[in-house]
Amino acid sequence: MKKVGVALLGLGTVGGGTYRILVNNKSRIEEEYGISLEIIKIMERDKKKAEKLGVPLSVLTTDINDIISNPEINVVAEFFGGIEPAKTFLIQSLEAGKSIVTANKELFSKNWPELEMAAKKGNAGLYFEATCAGGVPVIRTLNDAMQANTITAIKGIINGTTNYILTKMSDEGADYGDVLKTAQKLGYAEANPEADVEGYDASYKLSILSTLAYKTAVPVNAVYREGITKITNADIEFGKEFGLTIKLLGISKKTDKGIEARVHPVFIPKTHPLSSVKGSFNAVYISGDAVDDIMLYGRGAGDLPTGSAIVSDIVYAGLSERHKRFPQVLRKDNCNFISDFESEYYIRLLVNDKPGVLASLSGILGKYDISITTMVQKEGENVVPLCFVTHKTCEKAIQNAVSEIKKLPDVIEVSNIIRVER
Ligand code: NDP
Ligand code: HSE
Repeated sequence: MKKVGVALLGLGTVGGGTYRILVNNKSRIEEEYGISLEIIKIMERDKKKAEKLGVPLSVLTTDINDIISNPEINVVAEFFGGIEPAKTFLIQSLEAGKSIVTANKELFSKNWPELEMAAKKGNAGLYFEATCAGGVPVIRTLNDAMQANTITAIKGIINGTTNYILTKMSDEGADYGDVLKTAQKLGYAEANPEADVEGYDASYKLSILSTLAYKTAVPVNAVYREGITKITNADIEFGKEFGLTIKLLGISKKTDKGIEARVHPVFIPKTHPLSSVKGSFNAVYISGDAVDDIMLYGRGAGDLPTGSAIVSDIVYAGLSERHKRFPQVLRKDNCNFISDFESEYYIRLLVNDKPGVLASLSGILGKYDISITTMVQKEGENVVPLCFVTHKTCEKAIQNAVSEIKKLPDVIEVSNIIRVER
């Protein structure tokens, strides 16, 4: 039977889940795929983590050369997180002819061209299923199941931590800070959870998914990004009155004018399929010209779900005679990235309860050709919250209108602006 030597970098949440799957499912993988996955080395400095998992201490190392220069190792799977030393170790592995498997979306999305060049040089493979949507096989779907299609759009819940937080806030009125702590304890959040709640993590994933979908490099800095830290229970409650649920979405579209890619909180109708995606679950909608819409759904974070994607990649890397290449990340395409995208908008204000306030608001909205679909004003003494949803309009028009609205003498504050997608 073909032996595939594997090295694991890191034994935290993802590394631990991967180790358990590799050990527990070893003989089944041998029977079904005809390859024997042998863990040769594990790089982890915390011996206690290894002991807890029952890892024989003889495979532990803290020296990358034990991996790079070991001819028995064919695949290096990385779950350190962060850029360095992971980047150097992965490039060295590729140049030494070892395929890499990674869960590290920050590193992968920001350094894909260098990794691609190193992979070419070493005739090795890049495998990164676990970088996007945890256990949901979205990369494999884009790479290996959508060949018949020109992909026109991706829309998805691609961060488990923020979906867990927003679900708990919406369904249980839970406090943002408390739920974030639970998400950290459950192993969903990044080492620095700002990456989750400020939308960075989702922007890395959207960059990777869009680059695969549109066969054009969509770098992280072309992705518009906003996180969930400004979302309050007040917004969630107003949303419910409008029949809307709040989600952090990654949205990208390929249009005649160029590619639009954005990550931000979105209100969606509570009847929308993405509205029922709760907790740490992820879901990705992909639109193709032949297949129409497909939706993939599953656990977006956690040890075993992410380990599932990693082990699948290790099996692929071990079985592949020729590894897939990604020439688009090395091309300098003259692609236009659209920032003035169209959306409906929810706007929440605090205003003086006086005659004429609505008329002055309508005047400004009319000037920018923005019309309102629904409005709610709450009872209050002197100062009242006022909330409305617009018809579809352009981002620039909203930003210009809001900066004028802020200057109205009876507008105390513009409390929040949230995009609405149907
Ligand atoms: P953890 O912090 O749980 O694990 C990282 C592990 O790597 C720790 O044990 C850490 O040890 C070890 N490590 C880091 N640097 C070194 C080093 N230089 N030498 C030796 N050991 C090192 O992180 P996760 O498992 O949660 O995440 C890992 C990666 O997977 C990240 O890129 C993350 O974005 C990605 N990911 C995570 C998912 C999840 O659900 N958690 C899902 C999908 C992807 P120490 O504690 O001593 O620093
Ligand atoms: N922190 C990430 C999330 C892990 O919450 O989605 C999975 O990529």
